[in-house]
Amino acid sequence: MASPKTTFICNQCGASSPRWLGKCPGCGAWNTLVESVPETAGAGKNRLGAGFASLAPNSPVRPLAVIEAVDVARTPTGQPELDRVLGGGIVEGGVVLIGGDPGIGKSTLLLQALDALQRADLPAPGGGEVPGGGTLYVTGEESGAQVALRARRLGITGSQVAVLAEIQLERILATLAEQRPAVAVIDSIQTVYSDQLTSAPGSVAQVRECAAHLTRWAKSSGCAIVLVGHVTKDGQLAGPRVLEHMVDTVLYFEGDTHSSYRLIRAIKNRFGAVNEIGVFAMTEKGLKGVSNPSAIFLSQHSQPVPGSCVLVTLEGTRPMLVEIQALVDTGGVSPRRLSVGLERDRLAMLLAVLHQHAGVATGDQDVFVNAVGGVRISEPAADLAVMLTITSSLRGKALPKGFLAFGEVGLAGEVRPAPRGQERLKEAAKLGFSVAVVPKANAPKKADKAFEGLTIHAVERVDEAMALVRGLD
Ligand SMILES: Nc1ncnc2c1ncn2[C@@H]1O[C@H](COP(=O)(O)OP(=O)(O)OP(=O)(O)O)[C@@H](O)[C@H]1O
Ligand SMILES: [Mg+2]
Repeated sequence: MASPKTTFICNQCGASSPRWLGKCPGCGAWNTLVESVPETAGAGKNRLGAGFASLAPNSPVRPLAVIEAVDVARTPTGQPELDRVLGGGIVEGGVVLIGGDPGIGKSTLLLQALDALQRADLPAPGGGEVPGGGTLYVTGEESGAQVALRARRLGITGSQVAVLAEIQLERILATLAEQRPAVAVIDSIQTVYSDQLTSAPGSVAQVRECAAHLTRWAKSSGCAIVLVGHVTKDGQLAGPRVLEHMVDTVLYFEGDTHSSYRLIRAIKNRFGAVNEIGVFAMTEKGLKGVSNPSAIFLSQHSQPVPGSCVLVTLEGTRPMLVEIQALVDTGGVSPRRLSVGLERDRLAMLLAVLHQHAGVATGDQDVFVNAVGGVRISEPAADLAVMLTITSSLRGKALPKGFLAFGEVGLAGEVRPAPRGQERLKEAAKLGFSVAVVPKANAPKKADKAFEGLTIHAVERVDEAMALVRGLD
């Protein structure tokens, strides 16, 4: 059967062309034409946008004040760390996109969660008028036997999770309509393709179209859908950017595949706080939640070593202690600045501030910075610790035992406060740290038992911090 005709639409100006062109005939932009299904009167309701209108066909226009604010009901997934990032659990009709590097454990985590949900006896979605309920795992990457093998390794026996090895969207939708599961996992969205398009699975057009149809199904049926997404080489979710807008929650699974710890982070959540993280340890029996992760990213030095400083970072609601390491070495003609887990541009900026405001020159040196344990730190509160680590390595002098620092550093050399400084200090004191260098505004105003054993030095400027640390030698 000939496939239905498709058009190519510019994703910047919306101009259409019957065939693919490198340059958009409308706005002249390059490489912006994407294949899509042409909108006809009949097909219109199958498309995103038009589709959502049908969700509440009879809903009248009402003033906001008279609309009852109903709390969304959440079903816990049996993985408290996953529930934490989801904002409490799976929401009926909610669509979650979870991305992560190959082999990080996406399929493992979701299979574990589905099994726990299945055992929890889920109600039928959409108010229960239609029979259904339970879970469906759609795998496009593995065969049913491979999924069974994984289940056996994870110690999941006698699982009633329904498994479908399928990559064609229309058949997946038909199965969803027939089974009416309460939760469905699509592993992965990049392998799903729709018959309506001629482009290959994983292409921008296919991913967008398939995700739109699945999202629409979730909204109209009340089935919660979890989409697994691939990531590109630089860690972004593969496929169109619009994918992240379409779904309710975007989660990233990250971590160093060489270490057993994995972090799951909410980037967007319509039903909860973002930047909340969940911490897991990968074991032979699958992923196990780590409920008290504050000390897992510290390497165990028996004696302090140069080029190492501990930072208290706040991820979501939990403070975590992370060791930052630096190595400064004589560079070649063009010295290198490399960072793992921290932003490289920020590192370049901090080195400039260090030079201008603290007189520490690294212009002819290679500088390598690493956050231990594969954790990615994006908050600027890491600045002070990074700078102190670099100077420590440059001087070949270790920071004192039990030392930690945090604080944002500005271009003028000022040390700015980090959010919720007191909580960070309390966590450090709890873990037995003894010396802290923190921004002035974060220093506790009055003595508190919670900071006992921790000597807190407040600084306002970078040079002040450097002088203070030299005084601690
Ligand atoms: N026998 C085992 N013991 C311990 N860990 C294992 C074992 N087998 C697999 N693993 C872990 O499980 C990981 C694979 O997990 P999983 O297949 O869930 O990843 P994924 O994110 O779904 O990958 P992909 O993107 O390729 O689908 C491996 O990288 C490994 O760390
Ligand atoms: Mg997988």
